Amino acid sequence: MAPTFVSTVTSPTVTEPHRAIFVTSPPVDEPYRYEHLIPSFPDKRYPDLQPFEHEDPGHRALKHENPRAFLDTATSVVELTPALGTEVHGLDLTSLNNDAKDELALEVARRGVIVFRDQQAFIDKGPDYYKEFGRHFGRLHIHPTYAHPPGHPELHIVYRDENTTVNPERDDHITSVIWHSDISFELQPPGFTMLFLLSQPSSGGDTLYMSQVSALKKLSPDFVAFLRTLKAVHTNADQIKWGAENHLIARRSPVYTEHPVVRRHPVTGDEALFVNREFTRRIVGLKYEESEMLLNFLFDHIERSADNHIRAKWLPGTVVCWDNRVTAHSTTVDFQDRKARRHGCRVTPQAERPQPALETLKLNERVSL
Ligand SMILES: [Fe+2]
Repeated sequence: MAPTFVSTVTSPTVTEPHRAIFVTSPPVDEPYRYEHLIPSFPDKRYPDLQPFEHEDPGHRALKHENPRAFLDTATSVVELTPALGTEVHGLDLTSLNNDAKDELALEVARRGVIVFRDQQAFIDKGPDYYKEFGRHFGRLHIHPTYAHPPGHPELHIVYRDENTTVNPERDDHITSVIWHSDISFELQPPGFTMLFLLSQPSSGGDTLYMSQVSALKKLSPDFVAFLRTLKAVHTNADQIKWGAENHLIARRSPVYTEHPVVRRHPVTGDEALFVNREFTRRIVGLKYEESEMLLNFLFDHIERSADNHIRAKWLPGTVVCWDNRVTAHSTTVDFQDRKARRHGCRVTPQAERPQPALETLKLNERVSL
């Protein structure tokens, strides 16, 4: 079903079952090739997510004779920086069998981010295929607030054109950058995650990524030892509040979850910082000012330390895969003057509940701020 666009920001016309927000007029270049993936906001509620057993595909790849064999058909494999990121040309993601997908998960865990070029065949496969591909890596997450393509709630859509945005942008801030790990508020946040753009500006709209493993390694051993003893509360309460202010119905109740400040990757064993400015609100057990001081120090370190960063440019046909357990990222919205469309689709398989780097650290089931 084609989406219905509303005419004003302040008084949206709600047309069931889909609606778009912030739209002042439809895009001018219809019909659009990816009309079937245009954002929609079904007024549908879901029960709270239930815990599930996650088997990480990267574990299986550890037993392979050559866990990097899936890269054999690539024409180019280039490290972006020592800390994180690999750019791959020539490999066709649609050609990967299950063993190769396991190897993909392991390599993404080791490198943090892999930028795959030349993936138009994957993008052309369509939403059912995206979901089938993603389910290999874990249970697909349905976002509690943001846009889906019509009929495919397990896919997450980002969208901006000259008239429209459905993204949580902040025009009253001096930067569009909002560093985060996706849905870290959930009890079982994603591991392997992928995003691809269906339309992109000729320049701009890049995604920034950073390594939470490398960021942790920059800190002194005594400080890291202290961080390993800490837990933090992550929540999407502010995201749901933002949604409500913009006529978006929360499809699930707000979540408050306790996670370790330093987590261990279940396959690589790497330790990573696991806090982010978008969703982490409080260090458990510290006084408010102590928590604020420590979190802001860590957020600043994560965001400013460019020696732990890469920048992914969205050339046509690009698919980026990252391990959300050991990285953080942010979109850049720097192309408003180009009147261009940036339309992306994220596949978000959930993984295990974060494992504390300190094995004796106990995590509570129910938390609040
Ligand atoms: Fe994100």
